[in-house]
Amino acid sequence: MHTPDWAQLTRFAIALAEASAREILPYFRRNTAVDVKDGPVWDPVTEGDRAGERIIRRMIEEHYPDHGILGEEFGLKEARSPFTWVLDPIDGTRAFVCGMPTWATLIGLSHEGRPAVGLMNQPVVGDMFYGSPEGAWHDYRGQTSPIASRKDVPLARASVGTTAPELYRSAENQRRFQALKARAQLTRYGGDAYFFCMMAAGHIDIAMDCGLQPYDITPLLPIVTGAGGVAAEWTGGDIAQGGNVITAGSRPLLDEAMAIMTA
Ligand code: IPD
Ligand code: CA
Ligand code: CA
Repeated sequence: MHTPDWAQLTRFAIALAEASAREILPYFRRNTAVDVKDGPVWDPVTEGDRAGERIIRRMIEEHYPDHGILGEEFGLKEARSPFTWVLDPIDGTRAFVCGMPTWATLIGLSHEGRPAVGLMNQPVVGDMFYGSPEGAWHDYRGQTSPIASRKDVPLARASVGTTAPELYRSAENQRRFQALKARAQLTRYGGDAYFFCMMAAGHIDIAMDCGLQPYDITPLLPIVTGAGGVAAEWTGGDIAQGGNVITAGSRPLLDEAMAIMTA
């Protein structure tokens, strides 16, 4: 089979991000009604989440009717081709409902079950990150530059980003996370998808999160790997399915961190 046209698929992902931003932004900082999903932690969802995913799904169905779609808000449409789009219209809804511009729209494309193209868009800030088998880029308000993860940083000098310490719910994961934090130089919280992009762009060294869904991570992996970063699931699962995900700027740093997270 011929190689897919990654540049064309990336351009389409960018168009999806721009359209979803137009749907989501009218709900940001407007005291939008918050619904709460069932689950062990407080998990909000807004009309902004649903409107963002609706427009993306409509555009995919128009342009690529054979492609599958897996979205956080509206579930799975089975593929009739090797391609499935994986969508999180607002990653960081907790940040969104607090008025913090650290949420992001995540748009991924899996090819034959592997994450191939991925995009993160934060339209208030003007940040868009995207990656494919051809590399990874940051677009800031129309200016595009390639990104690369930071190398040669040992754990003792590493900055670590993760969404919240309380998400490491099992005693084992909490112990491992605290051990990693004790060995690193700096730990920052509250970044959701942003931290994975900050790692890919060389501003921090490790981005990690616990208990992720496929749509939380599939769109970010092509950005991480396209920028030269590496990723693992520390309990041995398939990383494209989410789970306990750790990413680092270099292989030696990932190995150092994995030794702690698997101990
Ligand atoms: C959340 C973010 C967060 C992760 C949580 C997810 P949402 O997604 O991805 O970083 O730690 O597990 O629920 O609900 O804001 O899309
Ligand atoms: Ca999410
Ligand atoms: Ca979400």
